[in-house]
Amino acid sequence: MQAVVLAGGEGTRLRPLTETVPKTVLPLCGRPFTAYTIDWLERHGVDEVVLSCGYLADGMKSALEGATGPRLVFEVEPEPLGTAGAIGHCRDLVGDTFFAMNGDVLSDLDLTSLVEAHRASGARATIGLYPVDDPTSYGLVFRDSDGKVSEFREKPEPGSDPGTDEINAGIYLLDASVFDLIQPGKPVSIEREVFPVLAAEGSLTGVRLEGYWLDIGTPDRFLQATEDILSGRVRTVLGRDGTADGVHLSEDAVVSESATLIGPSLIGPGVVIESGATVGPGTVLESGCRIGEGASVSGSALFPDCSVGEGATVAGSILSAGAQVDPRAEVPDGTVAAEGERLSG
Ligand code: GDD
Ligand code: MG
Repeated sequence: MQAVVLAGGEGTRLRPLTETVPKTVLPLCGRPFTAYTIDWLERHGVDEVVLSCGYLADGMKSALEGATGPRLVFEVEPEPLGTAGAIGHCRDLVGDTFFAMNGDVLSDLDLTSLVEAHRASGARATIGLYPVDDPTSYGLVFRDSDGKVSEFREKPEPGSDPGTDEINAGIYLLDASVFDLIQPGKPVSIEREVFPVLAAEGSLTGVRLEGYWLDIGTPDRFLQATEDILSGRVRTVLGRDGTADGVHLSEDAVVSESATLIGPSLIGPGVVIESGATVGPGTVLESGCRIGEGASVSGSALFPDCSVGEGATVAGSILSAGAQVDPRAEVPDGTVAAEGERLSG
């Protein structure tokens, strides 16, 4: 089985993190994000993943170099072709039926039941659905009792009554006949131009899936994903090597005896935490980070090689690789720092 993973978006809502690293391979709890997607697909029988990339495609390739598991094929778009155009660009690489999905979804939903529902319905496309409290920033899906989608409405007007809690989870099973609806070489949106046509002709099915689902595409949701992985709310490899106190500590991290680590947290390889510092809860220090004497970091994700000066405080923030927090600075909640940025609080 093959899967096309859409990974060519610019990740504008995660800027400045995505100015230098594509959203799909941002470091999340010690791994490039897509590694979780690839594991999830592999658990459901996928043996080849086509990564549809464009923006910062080289960064995608280098982040996934040496990855094990399904075969990876990098398909680089000449220009952004939109969600359907990008899938259409892969038409010569996939078989009669294949998965296609958004590359920014952290999930353990049951993809095998999506395949079964697709086969049973005979539809040309089947969408995985997920209920959310506020569906307004997603694609809304309305369906009959037999699962046939009657209407697909991408991102309703703000303030309008959504009328359903079921959204497009960005996970599809597609038959190759869907390529007939995608004009080659020009931008096409699957949500705005393909699904409405399939719904109108009665050949689009929706299946509500059970489990964990989160689009990581905003800073708040990225931190939510961090915490959910650390605390085992989503099924990932990380859950296997947590300690009783929920601290995932790399063997070669150097932690002062007088530092305090509060789980759930992850301390990556080569990290140095000096005396009297406090790290956690809900915190990830990627490889090579340095936390100075008496500093405090909580509810935050620090990408590789960040440094936090002595006595500084970082809370509820995401710092790109190599960011430097000055001694005694107070980094405000919700800060999203660029690569190498200096924060004086
Ligand atoms: N290759 C390629 N080319 N990929 C693209 C392009 C493109 O031109 N445009 C977007 N993508 C990728 C993004 O990288 C991302 O992984 C995925 O397509 C979805 O784009 P987003 O920009 O994250 O869309 P969204 O989150 O606002 O909405 C989509 O996802 C929701 C679920 O998370 C829609 O599919 C909604 O209907 C859906 O509910
Ligand atoms: Mg998204």
